[in-house]
Amino acid sequence: MPPRKIIIDTDPGQDDAVAILLALASPELDLLGITCVAGNVPLDLTTKNARIICELAGRPETRVFAGCDKPMARKLVTAEHVHGKTGLDGVTLPDPTMALQDQHAVDFLIETLRREPPGSVTICPIGPLTNIATALDRAPDIAPRIREIVLMGGAYFEVGNITPAAEFNIYVDPEAAKLVFGAGIPLVAMPLDVTHKALTTRARVEAFRALPGRVGPAVASWTDFFERFDKEKYGSEGAPLHDPCTVAYLLQPDLFSGRHINVEIETGSDLTLGMTVADWWRVTGRAPNATFIGDVNAEGFFALLVERLGRL
Ligand code: RIB
Ligand code: CA
Repeated sequence: MPPRKIIIDTDPGQDDAVAILLALASPELDLLGITCVAGNVPLDLTTKNARIICELAGRPETRVFAGCDKPMARKLVTAEHVHGKTGLDGVTLPDPTMALQDQHAVDFLIETLRREPPGSVTICPIGPLTNIATALDRAPDIAPRIREIVLMGGAYFEVGNITPAAEFNIYVDPEAAKLVFGAGIPLVAMPLDVTHKALTTRARVEAFRALPGRVGPAVASWTDFFERFDKEKYGSEGAPLHDPCTVAYLLQPDLFSGRHINVEIETGSDLTLGMTVADWWRVTGRAPNATFIGDVNAEGFFALLVERLGRL
């Protein structure tokens, strides 16, 4: 079976880092490129952080592209209060020496999807959807060529983490999210409903720390930093590893369960801007457009993470 071709679109972010490391450690996946977007921190930092992560993994040949530096129609909202001012607070790693690609991320997405066989490339957005929506808006012909979009974003039963109604990735660029969810592309969404069940615990973090090499200890230090926000806010034991849920789904989909339902994005109301209105109980009759994941086998998820990170 040839490896599955994927592109990760990201705003690193400690949890983004774990997702990227999981992908780099998994031979089942062929990471064609990492496209960076403004989100947790501004674009200059997300592009720097993506390269720090690749070099930490010993994969400086990975192609990293800079994308959009602000949402399609709004001012950028960032999340330094969660991720720290660098976006990767928790451990200090050397500045990257690997080059950033010259091509804009949106052009890379369009060119790659037009070149690769139709239905052969999976897109994994784990930040605001600005790059993906901009590519679809500029080149609608790429939509039917995308095999699947597996994204981290949204919330329903769990409600919001940046406002009472909205999850951060959707909230930052709701117009982009509306375009992506409405594009008719096979879509799997990992909302807070499931990522808040992928929580670190002391034992799980210590399992990362005990791994040989530099990657495990770095991940443990990142989660030590990253978890303080959720522990304070939710009183949870640890940090939700949001973004790695997308890559883990590609590797072991049976770890997850959800429903194929209609999900609409609120873009008109200031009160509920960015809310994912998920018709979980199928009361609207609106056509399903997303597999909305609600549960995860957390033990299996962390066992996968530890095993794969231990390979780097
Ligand atoms: O709401 C969680 C999401 O927002 C994650 O992708 C995290 O990295 C932040 O971008
Ligand atoms: Ca992210």
